[in-house]
Amino acid sequence: MPETAPSPYETLLLDRDEAVAIVRLNRPDALNALSDRLMDEMTACLDALEADPSVRAIVITGSDKVFAAGADIKEMGPKTYAEAFTQDFLTRNWERVTRCRKPVIAAVAGHCLGGGCELAMMCDFIIAGDNAQFGQPEINLGITPGVGGTQRLTRFVGKSKAMEMVLTGRRIDAVEAERCGLVSRVVPVAELMGEAIKAGKKIASLSPLSVMMAKEMVNVAYETTLAEGVRYERRQFQSLFAFDDQKEGMTAFVEKRKPTFKGT
Ligand code: CAA
Repeated sequence: MPETAPSPYETLLLDRDEAVAIVRLNRPDALNALSDRLMDEMTACLDALEADPSVRAIVITGSDKVFAAGADIKEMGPKTYAEAFTQDFLTRNWERVTRCRKPVIAAVAGHCLGGGCELAMMCDFIIAGDNAQFGQPEINLGITPGVGGTQRLTRFVGKSKAMEMVLTGRRIDAVEAERCGLVSRVVPVAELMGEAIKAGKKIASLSPLSVMMAKEMVNVAYETTLAEGVRYERRQFQSLFAFDDQKEGMTAFVEKRKPTFKGT
């Protein structure tokens, strides 16, 4: 069971279950709207988790009713262009999760809208509770998505569905999200955290070296041509043979025992 220590953050709760850190968005009165403070704290929290060698996987989640209803509209509404520009709005503190080298799993239940959906898409994969609802409703506010929604959503679900969601604000449920590749799988909401933590523990039991490299390899697929990506994969794959963990993994298979990976 996850252990809850007193949170050093005002807007996040931090739990641990063995090597899996659980970061819970915690602004229930505002449906976990992603305020500047929350994103500052998320950045600081991820910095701390990345620096802690005992953390091998991270789960970002909300409550069983809401992941996040988007960026904080009340805070954002009065902003001027000069403020948005000079404060480096969004770039300053929203993208830390995209730079995480450790695996980050989004466990999403309930509303996952606007910046909430964009935050979930920055994670490595999304496991959805069966009550999850995904959407980019910014168009209803006279704006557009601003933290990757038009770009990542399009890569995940294709142009037609992304265009419909972004232009009309239509939400999709968990079943549709799985069908179009936005989420890796859907589980009953009561099992969501158990499944996400189980995935985190499985990752934590593997070689941290091959896990980190595998994550980088898949991410390269989004940023380059197939030929470049395959070349990158081949070089990284060859370099794995320099690690003790490769010898241990393959020797353990041949000896019919469980491998003990040391991250060397
Ligand atoms: N920002 C600030 N406050 C929010 C919020 C948001 N994104 N979403 C909900 N809240 C607040 C509401 O104002 C309300 O507060 P009060 O009790 O003080 O009035 C409280 O949370 C509960 O919300 P509702 O009463 O609206 O709850 P509901 O169950 O009737 O509706 C909902 C739920 C459909 C999610 C609705 O709250 C909603 O539509 N929220 C906004 C969704 C949205 O437009 N998100 C995009 C934001 S812009 C963005 O994210 C830009 C970007 O790309 C970075």
